[in-house]
Amino acid sequence: MLIRQSFMGCVGLFAAALLAACGGGGTSASDAGLPDDTPLSPQAALGELIFKDVSLSASGRQACATCHSVENAHSPANALPAQFGGVLLDQQGRRSAPSVNYLSFNSAFYIASDGTPTGGFFWDGRATSLQDQAGKPFLSDFEMANASRADVIDKLSRATYAAQFKSVFGADIFTRPDAAFDRLTLALQQYQREDADFRAFSSKYDEFLRGNVALSAQELRGLSLFNDPGKGNCQACHPSGRAADGSFPLFTDFSFDNLGVPRNAAIARNDDPAYFDLGLCARDDMAARTDFCGAFKVPSLRNVAQRHVFFHNGRFSTLKDALTFYVQRDTSPEKFYPLNPDGSVKKFDDLPTQYAVNVNTVEVPYNRRPGDAPALSDAEIDDVIAFLQTLSDGYRP
Ligand code: HEC
Ligand code: HEC
Repeated sequence: MLIRQSFMGCVGLFAAALLAACGGGGTSASDAGLPDDTPLSPQAALGELIFKDVSLSASGRQACATCHSVENAHSPANALPAQFGGVLLDQQGRRSAPSVNYLSFNSAFYIASDGTPTGGFFWDGRATSLQDQAGKPFLSDFEMANASRADVIDKLSRATYAAQFKSVFGADIFTRPDAAFDRLTLALQQYQREDADFRAFSSKYDEFLRGNVALSAQELRGLSLFNDPGKGNCQACHPSGRAADGSFPLFTDFSFDNLGVPRNAAIARNDDPAYFDLGLCARDDMAARTDFCGAFKVPSLRNVAQRHVFFHNGRFSTLKDALTFYVQRDTSPEKFYPLNPDGSVKKFDDLPTQYAVNVNTVEVPYNRRPGDAPALSDAEIDDVIAFLQTLSDGYRP
């Protein structure tokens, strides 16, 4: 219990601060989270039941786990660019469903002193906490599609674990739907914070960092290309090394960037040429920050090899294609974007023209011009992919 309390006090801090705050610093998996055998608190145990309960959706067929599959690092098991939900499961979402692992190390959204937008939940950081986030899918038209909070609580009061919910949160909890909804989302947050599956730190790369296993020659080449500021420069946004205090890397700094990912015609909402997913600036509270239009949160690359689609709109479906886009976006843009009537390439076609200036064209690997050599060759991309494959949890030698 003491272990959990000291960990819970650290949740919400960045990994860099985590071990210092928790007094850790050893080299076992537990230094980055709870030991695997720590039992879940009663709230988190309820959260697990809720996470997997399809009866809390209007369709009766969808739970959190439907889109955040437990077997697939809590990301979708299928290869759809956006998932379908709603009463009849025929309403397509607008964005790809991310893995929800390692998010207990994220914080609420803030703008850092150097101006970098950072943190928050969802691709645009609009939810302030895992609890705030957990309330949204229940009421979204293209997800679990309930009519109201009271509607969700009515379903919950008939769930097989309703008595357990009452014993944890009070015998009269179902008579107060707003309070009950608040506890429902709290339980989901506690589950995602406490269950070690959400932050296993059990990949081959973690074992390498612990000195327990060697990487292959190709994996090492990939790691070095990933880190090299003149080659992949991936660590600039996807940090790969242990912090000074020994905490393990999350492969995201939770900042935002605009990559100019091409429009995805497989998302039905994009049939309307006037519609653009503007990401960060589409939030009401960020509407004045037009420099943030097109920016999305940097996802963790842990378990990325388990993902079937990549980027906020699921535009690419293999790591090879996603990485080729990174390094050839500016050297061979015609491979990724449509042509204008005059034959020129319509670069950054998923942004209104006035926001094309927001796309990152200064940092490696995006700083090239047509005709330049890409930052990574084809063989080097394969090396980076071999390295990314070492980031999958559950490594067994
Ligand atoms: C129909 C599929 C679907 C269902 C059901 C669903 N999600 Fe998601 N989830 C998504 C998508 C898509 C996003 C990204 C949406 C966005 O950024 O606007 C997301 C984002 C998230 C995030 C934020 C990830 C990040 O990187 O910040 C969390 C956490 C999350 N979901 C948890 C849940 C929980 C808890 C439930 C159940 C209450 C749930 N999801 C139900 C599809 C789904
Ligand atoms: C300047 C910051 C930055 C750099 C440098 C960077 N990335 Fe990213 N990465 C991002 C952002 C932001 C996204 C999400 C963009 C979006 O969806 O619009 C992303 C997304 C990804 C994704 C998709 C993950 C998913 O779950 O959808 C992969 C794979 C990826 N990056 C790998 C790399 C690799 C490999 C490198 C080095 C070659 C790299 N990144 C360099 C910021 C960066």
